[in-house]
Amino acid sequence: MALYSEKVMDHFRHPRNVGIIEDADGIGEVGNAKCGDIMKMYLKIEDDVISDVKFETFGCGSAIASSSMATELIKGKPVSDAMQLTNQAVAEALDGLPDYKMHCSVLAEEAIQNALDDYYRKHPEKKIK
Ligand code: FES
Repeated sequence: MALYSEKVMDHFRHPRNVGIIEDADGIGEVGNAKCGDIMKMYLKIEDDVISDVKFETFGCGSAIASSSMATELIKGKPVSDAMQLTNQAVAEALDGLPDYKMHCSVLAEEAIQNALDDYYRKHPEKKIK
């Protein structure tokens, strides 16, 4: 079996939603101290829906594929869905990652969580109770 699924390779070679959102409602940045990879997520939120999402990832292929897939999984979805996105869901959507690359998908989960935290810090009235 190939080390990486076709989906991982596809999202690595043709990442979706790369870039920045100038007037983002929430920005989240995370890094992994061991490998030194960094991921930044930008969210645009309208009527409690993720209307746009972009990312910048300085990291390995699995981190790029994970960020790309994560953006696809939350784009156009309610904020409440994005809050529940797990790294396992990202890895599953990529048809799996090697065990030692699972931490790359964790970065995607954490970057989105941080961006949502940032959004709620700026808009405490929107906080879901
Ligand atoms: Fe660290 Fe992939 S090796 S995020």
